[in-house]
Amino acid sequence: MAPLLLLLLPALSSVAQDLPPYSEECRKGTYPPHGPTFKGKIPWYTINLDSAPHKRWNQLISDKKVEVTNLIQAIKNLANDFFPSGKLIELVDKHLAPLVDTLPFPFNEEIKGIADVSGLPLGEVMFFNVFYEIFTVCTSLVAEDTTGKLYHARNLDFGLFLGWDIKKHSWEIPEYLRPLTVNLDFQRNNKTIFKSTNFAGYVGMLTGMRPGIFTLTMNERFNIDGGYIGIIEWILGKRDGFWMSFLTRSVLENATSYAQAKDQLTNTKMLAPAYFILGGNRSGEGCVITRSRKACLDVWELDLKHGSWYVLETNYDRWKDPLFLDNRRTPAMKCLNETTQKKISLPAIYDVLSTKPVLNKLTTYTTLMEVSSGTFEAYLRDCPDPCIPW
Ligand SMILES: *[C@@H]1O[C@H](CO)[C@@H](O)[C@H](O)[C@H]1NC(C)=O
Ligand SMILES: *[C@@H]1O[C@H](CO)[C@@H](O)[C@H](O)[C@H]1NC(C)=O
Ligand SMILES: *[C@@H]1O[C@H](CO)[C@@H](O)[C@H](O)[C@H]1NC(C)=O
Ligand SMILES: *[C@@H]1O[C@H](CO)[C@@H](O)[C@H](O)[C@H]1NC(C)=O
Repeated sequence: MAPLLLLLLPALSSVAQDLPPYSEECRKGTYPPHGPTFKGKIPWYTINLDSAPHKRWNQLISDKKVEVTNLIQAIKNLANDFFPSGKLIELVDKHLAPLVDTLPFPFNEEIKGIADVSGLPLGEVMFFNVFYEIFTVCTSLVAEDTTGKLYHARNLDFGLFLGWDIKKHSWEIPEYLRPLTVNLDFQRNNKTIFKSTNFAGYVGMLTGMRPGIFTLTMNERFNIDGGYIGIIEWILGKRDGFWMSFLTRSVLENATSYAQAKDQLTNTKMLAPAYFILGGNRSGEGCVITRSRKACLDVWELDLKHGSWYVLETNYDRWKDPLFLDNRRTPAMKCLNETTQKKISLPAIYDVLSTKPVLNKLTTYTTLMEVSSGTFEAYLRDCPDPCIPW
């Protein structure tokens, strides 16, 4: 296993993402999920918000202890390949653990609880939680059908640059993430507050729905100027911004309307830029919020009157071209356009998200949500060869 990371870039860039076999005609009839791109169903767990934060992850973590440990070991191996002295891990174990106490409630308590149950060092669980904020590339969309029903779906593509396995022709980290993928039903008083597809051990949220109210996904926004400065500042002691996926979690847990969710996602100061993709339960309620750390740069809304019946976000600002190596936006839009608003449905969206390169080697799961009925489905994905690495 060689860590190739950036060394691999020139080699990979010679494969053109927009040519067959890496791209294909819009898929049809892929739903219900079956065949080689479907890797299995995702188990459900209930997280009881009435129990103490320190305890609420116990069941899940006891069940997934081995898988969480394996992923953390894989990350450590990668890190040690880069910093062979073992210094990085030493740093994590020594210096990240005390930072848990600086996280807002309930995240601090939850992370400590997860460390206790899993037996993993606190610093490593903390690292694991920070790690997701950094390597996620995705496709998210909200679409409205002709009856005003809203659909929200995403592919979660994770682990870019984290160890290409030449023999297996796959990224290492997604292989470890699939067994950690779970659907969570967060309850108070035995009633669902929100649902989420998540990775066991992670207390932030990337994908979720408050049934009947709103749906929310987060995509990473790469930004050369200022990208991770907030995170570095936070480690060094300047802690006035929110971790992005903690904000998403807070909104899912405590915002009670589309408008309130939108307001919080637009106006809360964060540690790094992000895209929030938000859908409501009423016609026209769907938007992509483009955020810098401190400001909202753009809110792109559904505009049915002018024919915009969907909004779609990958990892690029909509007013800029995607990186030529990584254009998942055009193929996804092409397939949505071919589908038409009349025929849009969760199965049709699953087709779009199953079309290469929207589906690629990093794709870990696909989640489909329909807010008015409370439908929430998620599937593990795979992209067998020939398939673009991202
Ligand atoms: C939730 O349900 C369980 C089992 O059905 C019951 O024991 C418990 O009292 C309920 N809790 C609340 C807060 O209603
Ligand atoms: C969501 O929309 C559906 C369909 O329009 C409606 O029946 C339902 O009452 C709405 N839910 C809420 C909480 O507004
Ligand atoms: C949601 O609000 C409750 C009550 O104010 C608070 O205890 C809880 O920590 C909040 N959840 C998050 C994730 O911020
Ligand atoms: C999809 O349709 C929209 C609206 O007609 C158009 O602006 C856009 O260029 C189309 N995109 C692709 C990739 O076909």
